[in-house]
Amino acid sequence: MEKKIDEKKLLSEAKEARKNAYVPFSGFTVGAALLTKDGKIYRGCNIESSVMSPSLCAERVALAKAISEGEKDFLAIAIVGAPKDEEAKDACYPCGVCRQTLSEHVKLSAFTVVTEENGQAVTCTLEELLPRAFVFEK
Ligand code: THU
Repeated sequence: MEKKIDEKKLLSEAKEARKNAYVPFSGFTVGAALLTKDGKIYRGCNIESSVMSPSLCAERVALAKAISEGEKDFLAIAIVGAPKDEEAKDACYPCGVCRQTLSEHVKLSAFTVVTEENGQAVTCTLEELLPRAFVFEK
């Protein structure tokens, strides 16, 4: 049976994570909360760098924290983003780099992306966000 995702809880974890974003350059804060199959949640926020290219998106911070702790099975990620000091009103979907990175650790059709639009949870699968994904054949 498919496990029900508590979208509200996951979004509230992403909102907490967003408070820690380090964004001296863009001023745009993002929070992410990654849910494992056994119910653990790993949070991430975006962390920018003055030399730009090492800047990290919230989603990849959450993923790196989870992978480095040995997690392998993921169900969903919640993402919220907005300019600093503003409440997130618009949906915030993962950037292309994060879509690709996530795709390498999940089954695209079985991984849910949750965001919020005007206070309402909106969901889709990663497959919908990244059709015909690049797959590296080993
Ligand atoms: N950002 C994320 O954290 N996740 C995304 O999926 C899109 C963009 C961050 C990167 C940068 O710090 C800021 O948002 C503006 O692009």
